[in-house]
Amino acid sequence: MSKGRIFDDTVPLLAAAGIAVDPEATRSRKLILPTGDPGLRLIIVRASDVPTYVQYGAADLGVAGKDVLLEHGGDGLYQPIDLRIGLCRLCVAAREDFDYAQAVRRGARLRVATKYVDTARQHFAAKGVHVDLIKLYGSMELAPLVGLADVIVDVVSTGSTLRANHLVEVEEIMNISARLVVNQASLKTRAARLEPLLSRLEQAVAAQAASAVPS
Ligand code: ATP
Ligand code: PRP
Repeated sequence: MSKGRIFDDTVPLLAAAGIAVDPEATRSRKLILPTGDPGLRLIIVRASDVPTYVQYGAADLGVAGKDVLLEHGGDGLYQPIDLRIGLCRLCVAAREDFDYAQAVRRGARLRVATKYVDTARQHFAAKGVHVDLIKLYGSMELAPLVGLADVIVDVVSTGSTLRANHLVEVEEIMNISARLVVNQASLKTRAARLEPLLSRLEQAVAAQAASAVPS
């Protein structure tokens, strides 16, 4: 899993599933962290690298956002549990003064800056809009402000980053949450070890959802 919000939201789920993790552990530079279960270690990778580690079996399990999984393609991965953490939505956003409705008429051409190039390509292809895709790795919100792109495709949660940069959400592509991913071969060869863990995690997710205060 990745450091930051995914780690912070997964640790309580692991605790509820009976696996203790020292939350302070990520303050160190260690990339392999022990847990209270001697048979389970956590490896810390970039969020967008999680599916790759699991696909190749370097990790049996992973926690990754649906945004990252869609972009990766999900080859070799089984996605058994929606962990209901890392909640956000994948959106198209533009400057407040940009006429998006006019820009996405069928046959038009749009410059799109995003980390999610394949997902964005598919989204606009389905609408019949030609796109010039500009791959970025962060701070996407800057692109429309400095004339690099007409729109961005990025995840939005509270909307405060968009507001702070005078951008508006012009289209929602999909809701996003983090999923547990499992290497398909590991699930077969280590079923006795992995299946009880999966069912404990599933119960932990259900218990957390049941105790959540409705918004
Ligand atoms: P990388 O390090 O590969 O560039 P990242 O910086 O996007 O990835 P995080 O910011 O930790 O990594 O995001 C991890 C996941 O959390 C994302 O893939 C997405 O599913 C979700 N996410 C991203 N931003 C938010 C947000 N503002 N609120 C809630 N969830 C988010
Ligand atoms: C994510 C995303 C947006 C922001 C949206 O960035 O790329 O910039 O969160 O959240 P908001 O709607 O609540 O403002 P993140 O905080 O992960 O920064 P990074 O992509 O630079 O790591």
